[in-house]
Amino acid sequence: MDLGLGGRGYLLTGASRGLGFAAARALVDDGARVLVSSRTPDSVARAAEELGGAPAAFGTAADLADAAAAERLVTEAGDRLGRVDGALVSVGGPPPGTVLDASEEDWRASIDSVFLGTLRLVRALVPVLDDGAAIGLVLSTSVREPIAHLAISNGLRPGLAMTAKSLATELGPRGIRVFGLLPGRIATDRIVQMDRRSPDPDAARRASEASIPLRRYGRPEEFGRVAAFCLSPAASYLTGVMLPVDGGMLQGL
Ligand SMILES: NC(=O)c1ccc[n+]([C@@H]2O[C@H](COP(=O)([O-])OP(=O)(O)OC[C@H]3O[C@@H](n4cnc5c(N)ncnc54)[C@H](OP(=O)(O)O)[C@@H]3O)[C@@H](O)[C@H]2O)c1
Repeated sequence: MDLGLGGRGYLLTGASRGLGFAAARALVDDGARVLVSSRTPDSVARAAEELGGAPAAFGTAADLADAAAAERLVTEAGDRLGRVDGALVSVGGPPPGTVLDASEEDWRASIDSVFLGTLRLVRALVPVLDDGAAIGLVLSTSVREPIAHLAISNGLRPGLAMTAKSLATELGPRGIRVFGLLPGRIATDRIVQMDRRSPDPDAARRASEASIPLRRYGRPEEFGRVAAFCLSPAASYLTGVMLPVDGGMLQGL
């Protein structure tokens, strides 16, 4: 199937590694051009180079917690790519903790980067998008089911999902699509770090895998392909959905 990505331009945040990078890889492999970003200049430069460099891939450092980042990223995407057909918004996940032991400072920092960072980017992006564009948010299965010891994620992701759903309704008449992706356990640095918090990381991974119907963690490229499809013109009638990419882990529909 031709996804119709040839020559299109996409902005990806949180994309120097992990899920954002995997999505950038899939987009570039199908002929799209990307501007990837994250907080660390060296990692961003390395990621852009790994994706083949200009004219297919550019990198720029930006922290989504910084209120000025969104406007600058959108301007730079237009300048570097020549056209902007959408974005995949990923941000480093909130720190672990229970509802009662996560500090107010952690809640504030996560609201600023994960929630407001996403919102600011979307608001800066919408004015430059045309019919056929798409915005994807990388969320979590915590949109639908709480995850133990990730209270801040459990608190913020459902709100972001409903915000995305509202935005899909607002932007639908302009032909702009909005969707959320709900990764379960995809083997990125973040998931490895989370398993390492357990006294026996291998046992923790085996226990997690046992609870997944496909009995394994996902590979980043499996997530990346889903993201690229959802952003592409091939998914032209898909909007307002929250799509789990979780090997069947969520038990509810
Ligand atoms: N992997 C999974 O299975 C899974 C499951 C559920 C939810 N998620 C969520 O999906 C998102 C991506 O996860 P991942 O597995 O790709 O994580 P990851 O491997 O840790 O990668 C996170 C990426 O985001 C960047 N980043 C972190 N904070 C940022 C900020 N404030 N502004 C801009 N970029 C930032 C990081 O680069 P720098 O450090 O250079 O900024 C990196 O490129 C996270 O929100 C995570 O909670 C992932």
